[in-house]
Amino acid sequence: MRATEWPASPRPPVRLLLQWGVSALREAGIETARLDAEVLLADVLGCSRAQLFARFHDSVGRREAAAYRGLVVRRARGEPVAYILGRREFYGRAFYVDRRVLIPRPETELLVERALTLLEGRPRPLVADIGTGSGAIAVTLAAERPDLRVIATDVSAGALEVARLNAERHGVADRVDLRLGHLLEPLDEPVDLIGANLPYVGTEEAKRLPRDVVQYEPHEALFAGPEGLALIRELFASLQPAHLKPGGAVLLEVGYGHGREVVNLACQQWPQANVRLHKDLAGIERVVEINFLSPATGEV
Ligand SMILES: C[S@@+](CC[C@H](N)C(=O)[O-])C[C@H]1O[C@@H](n2cnc3c(N)ncnc32)[C@H](O)[C@@H]1O
Repeated sequence: MRATEWPASPRPPVRLLLQWGVSALREAGIETARLDAEVLLADVLGCSRAQLFARFHDSVGRREAAAYRGLVVRRARGEPVAYILGRREFYGRAFYVDRRVLIPRPETELLVERALTLLEGRPRPLVADIGTGSGAIAVTLAAERPDLRVIATDVSAGALEVARLNAERHGVADRVDLRLGHLLEPLDEPVDLIGANLPYVGTEEAKRLPRDVVQYEPHEALFAGPEGLALIRELFASLQPAHLKPGGAVLLEVGYGHGREVVNLACQQWPQANVRLHKDLAGIERVVEINFLSPATGEV
């Protein structure tokens, strides 16, 4: 059998199915071929990746083998594993995802951590998550802090539908208020914290993005003008004192290489604010934190 030939046996063992999947994905240029083949087969068999190896020589039924083959073909065409499986883990919870939303990234967990730290000692905080997408940030904050409420906004009605499913799945729908609208426009009361992971890829950068990102993830969730800063600039320009409670803060996830520029923009606009830049686990400047220490003034 050539590596990419489908096994001849009608009930092939796990071992041969994995071998076929890895070869087919490598041939398609998928860098994570082994991991992806394992994850897809484990999903079809309803077991963990570790359990797959205990079943290495077990035969797989015709229907399950065919289902696995279909998933590998989708992956080989470039579809991300998270969309194929309909889920992605974020901050230890499984989020439903489909092509209406950006797949939550591990680096965004830094924004959640900073938010939880900033909100310590603030009873019953109200947070705004601008550009909520799957609801990863909003739902996680509500699940981590049972006394917290979130206003979660997006310009995409489809994304809000996905966020609603996730809020229900994690039992926080009564504290996640989903609103359709542009940036801060849906806000009608001051919040303790504004968090936003807005689109930050420059349109000129599109050619350098992985193929599966550009082909499958919503462009509305990725791109923000030629350099990727258009929406962050607009958010800054529209931020008014009425948006934040006294001593409130803003947390923004920023793109690779954008950290210093966003810090400079914030310092120019609010010279009295305390502005900090946080690195993610890969050492990349990822989250800009703006603390408005004094009661809200004309400068926010
Ligand atoms: C990078 S994704 C982030 C999704 C999610 N918060 C996360 O961290 O995984 C950006 C989200 O912002 C939304 N968005 C784009 N333009 C927006 C705007 N002008 N106002 C509000 N949301 C916007 C997109 O639809 C998308 O869901």
